[in-house]
Amino acid sequence: MSIPKNRPPLSRGAKGHYFDPLPAVPSKPRTVFLHAGEVDLELQADRGVFGSRGVDLGTLQLIKEAPKPPTQGDILDLGAGYGPIAIALARQAPEARIWAVDVNERALELTRANAGAAKTPNVTASLPDEVPADVRFAAIYSNPPVRVGKAPLHELLLRWLPRLDEGARAYLVVQRNLGSDSLAAWLATQGYNVKRLRSKKGYRILEIRSQS
Ligand SMILES: C[S@@+](CC[C@H](N)C(=O)[O-])C[C@H]1O[C@@H](n2cnc3c(N)ncnc32)[C@H](O)[C@@H]1O
Repeated sequence: MSIPKNRPPLSRGAKGHYFDPLPAVPSKPRTVFLHAGEVDLELQADRGVFGSRGVDLGTLQLIKEAPKPPTQGDILDLGAGYGPIAIALARQAPEARIWAVDVNERALELTRANAGAAKTPNVTASLPDEVPADVRFAAIYSNPPVRVGKAPLHELLLRWLPRLDEGARAYLVVQRNLGSDSLAAWLATQGYNVKRLRSKKGYRILEIRSQS
């Protein structure tokens, strides 16, 4: 299977999608745990938000296997959900500013609460349009919303990747059977230098170098 062409392949009916701005499904918070190397976090997840039953395996792979974040500057977690990647980055780089961006308001509320509980004040949870236009990123990390469909995913990446600082890198984790290789090939057609860093447990980590 590859990345769906436009909208997601599944009809979720009244349940909606994890990328809905205001999830229709009633809230039912749940505590989930993230153990990855030195990062050990207890986080609140919820229905209507990606990974509500536990930290996603791809997310874990990204935190464990991608290179550590730069110690300074602005770093983007694109599609932050309830914040596992953003908060792990904030722990690893306490002097950097981590932008946790999502369209799902419930996810952003959870990220704020989780960052508060984890004592990581360097996380800013924002809607995409709330990130000031002049901010450039020293790195981008993302478990991207592949299920939005191919065209919206491409649009999303073309919105944020050009905001990498010169020489900076983005790290994306994508399930191999959800089209990681075709995404890498498409990024190359857009002029990006893409390396397939790791492939473990069905997930691939792509490293994308900024265009200079
Ligand atoms: C695969 S989930 C990853 C969530 C979280 N980073 C994690 O690892 O658990 C992708 C996230 O992207 C968000 N998303 C979807 N469309 C988006 C957009 N246009 N801009 C920013 N985030 C978006 C979804 O709401 C979802 O939370």
